[in-house]
Amino acid sequence: NPLPPFPAGFLWGVSTSAHQIEGAVETRGRSVWDAFTDRPGRIRDGSTAAVACDHVRRYREDVALLAGLGVDAYRFSVSWPRADSPGGLGFYDRLVDELCAAGVRPVPTLFHWDLPVELDWRERDTASRFAAHAERVAARLGDRVPTWITLNEPAEHTLLGHALGVHAPGERLLFDALPVAHHQLLAHGLAVRALRAAGATEIGIANSHGPVRPASDALADREAADFYDVLLNRTFADPPLLGRYPEGIGELMPGNVAADLDVIAEPLDFYGVNFYAPARVGAPSDAPGDFGGVPLPAGLPFSVRETEGRPVTDSGWPVDPEALTELLTGFRARYGDRLPPIVITENGCAYDGLDDQDRITYLDGHLRALHEALTAGVDVRGYFVWSLLDNFEWAEGYAHRFGLVHVDFTTQRRTPKASYAWFREMLAAQR
Ligand code: FCB
Repeated sequence: NPLPPFPAGFLWGVSTSAHQIEGAVETRGRSVWDAFTDRPGRIRDGSTAAVACDHVRRYREDVALLAGLGVDAYRFSVSWPRADSPGGLGFYDRLVDELCAAGVRPVPTLFHWDLPVELDWRERDTASRFAAHAERVAARLGDRVPTWITLNEPAEHTLLGHALGVHAPGERLLFDALPVAHHQLLAHGLAVRALRAAGATEIGIANSHGPVRPASDALADREAADFYDVLLNRTFADPPLLGRYPEGIGELMPGNVAADLDVIAEPLDFYGVNFYAPARVGAPSDAPGDFGGVPLPAGLPFSVRETEGRPVTDSGWPVDPEALTELLTGFRARYGDRLPPIVITENGCAYDGLDDQDRITYLDGHLRALHEALTAGVDVRGYFVWSLLDNFEWAEGYAHRFGLVHVDFTTQRRTPKASYAWFREMLAAQR
């Protein structure tokens, strides 16, 4: 049953990030992720990203895989410590040239969690350092790159890295991590200005979002779900889109928040949404539940419940495509004319095996759900699969495979999976 046709000019792509695929750590400075990985017990399979997909050496082969897939665009990230190292920008220069020669539009993300180890998002100054990073990278690549993404998922970076400590830099600050969110959002706004000044014409952010469903109609459950929605969705979407924090959050942020919000609300050309799964949330209980598989501590004002009656992926995340339609129509209702065109900057799933029919089912379902949102009037302009390659899935190591292309991490051999062929055929049918 073929997918319904998407609008002409819809941007089809795949995503990766630097730390998860590049390897070649010896040719760049260290990031907080290198330091975190060195701490015993932090990565489930004891692995490191020192080699990962060896992409720095094999990028030509990887661009050939993109060309073979027939995508319009490739979202990758620029490693900040690599950009700061001698010859580091030269790598992205060659990558961009190779992409342009293959007819694939480069879409760089300027920060995907691999902060230089000497920096700290608790410091306000990191925001201006990030703007300088954006300026430097844009000065080097801007002649060929019109489309930019500032940050990847500041919510996850704040929550997992600084509140719960299961990602780098491994801090367990709980609600005291909120300034980390503010400084990233400020960094985003300053970078938008720097990119604009460098001539960029399409600028966005990649935020993770999912609808939050109350565990029941009871008031306590609805209030808990609303608080969770504020924390994970609205704290990161309201400032760039509406120029304000949700009620109760701004007071917890450091600095001159009102002045900072002017910067954070710089107009965007598109709004990137990373979508994986919805959440079901209720009043606090003895079992606080988990966040995408990460156990939550006791004492939070909510508890995360299981989404029942749904298959789960290898990472335990429920497969619920209608949640994507719900998310996008909800966004349109909430943000109205303040919402720029949406691009799905990540969507995908972890499944093992080369004959990955489950991934095909997942992607097919989510594309139909996305089409429903288009039909309902949501302006969505593009869709990027996470990910091109199996890669270093953060604290999970190499166990969770998200690629359309299988990577044998001993030989570095790439083998396109069934989902790669499926996506290629789907794209050909859309043309
Ligand atoms: C997202 C991250 C991405 C990848 C996917 C599975 O939260 O942005 O790097 O790990 O999840």
